[in-house]
Amino acid sequence: MPLLPLGGCSNVVLPDVLEAVVLRAGDDSIQVIGDEAGKRVLRVGAARDWHAFVLWSVAEGYGGLENLALIPGSVGAAPVQNIGAYGRELQECVVAVHGHDLRSGEARSLSSEECRFAYRSSVFKEELGDRFLIRAVDFRLAVGGEPRTDYPSLSDWLARGAYGRSAQEVCRAVIDLRRERLPDPQTNPNAGSFFKNPIVTCALAEELLARHASLPVYRVDDERTKLSAGWLIEAAGLRGFALGPVRSSPRHALVLENTGGAGQDDVLALAARIREQVLDHFGVRLEVEPRVYSRAAVLEATW
Ligand code: EPU
Repeated sequence: MPLLPLGGCSNVVLPDVLEAVVLRAGDDSIQVIGDEAGKRVLRVGAARDWHAFVLWSVAEGYGGLENLALIPGSVGAAPVQNIGAYGRELQECVVAVHGHDLRSGEARSLSSEECRFAYRSSVFKEELGDRFLIRAVDFRLAVGGEPRTDYPSLSDWLARGAYGRSAQEVCRAVIDLRRERLPDPQTNPNAGSFFKNPIVTCALAEELLARHASLPVYRVDDERTKLSAGWLIEAAGLRGFALGPVRSSPRHALVLENTGGAGQDDVLALAARIREQVLDHFGVRLEVEPRVYSRAAVLEATW
């Protein structure tokens, strides 16, 4: 049987039966391993719950992870998709990733550059996809430091609530904001954003903006612009839309919720409908963000 490393399973869409030997890291330790340019370097076992680690780091007085609070999953899974929220991405504080190459059987440590982090992507999703068991991650965190709060939805939220500006307070604000805006996977099972925010040419973004003035756009570079997939889905009339036991969340159109008893096929049927409708309305092709596996533990390549 194939070997398949998995973490907390919050960003995968699995079939009812998976014919694989699932590997899960067991180490959830945290060790201080050094100081670098006034920052602390920590080694964290892959099995540690991500949010628990964020809370621990903030309580210990470290800065840098506060914007990434309440993201479900484990520390070992975080580098795979380079988790990100409210203007921060994991890659900014990762120094190295340690693990085992399951094909060669060798232990290997990758530097941050070797991880080839990109928007919701890394080498662990590409060349080393499903063949690398992450066992620990090294982080470089500020001791104290200024939280980053300029991301529009976070700065609006901070301005409206009674929050201070310390990392601990920003962490509290992010938790409240996520609880308000995103459905809780414990009560409304979901895999977070089901599609990536699409990156299109600036020319296409201009064309769409001329027709839809409220479309949120984020400039990536001189040629490319990131659009908001949630907005596109809502504007295509699908926010809250249900197909069988799966629906686009009424709270946030980009999140697909299992409303009871849904299997992988049900989830993929709604995802396909959303892609078609967004393509018809806007000429934009959405890319699925969580990883979708077949029964034989092979990554589905049809997306
Ligand atoms: N919007 C709508 N309708 C909706 C949902 C959103 O019009 O139903 C609009 C919002 O009004 C806003 C824009 O879309 O103007 C962006 O929405 P939001 O700030 O919620 O962020 P997002 O781009 O939809 C991304 C990440 C989230 C992350 C948030 C906050 C991706 C694919 N998703 O969502 O990450 O929490 O930013 O930084 O990049 C995840 O990856 O699973 C995830 C939840």
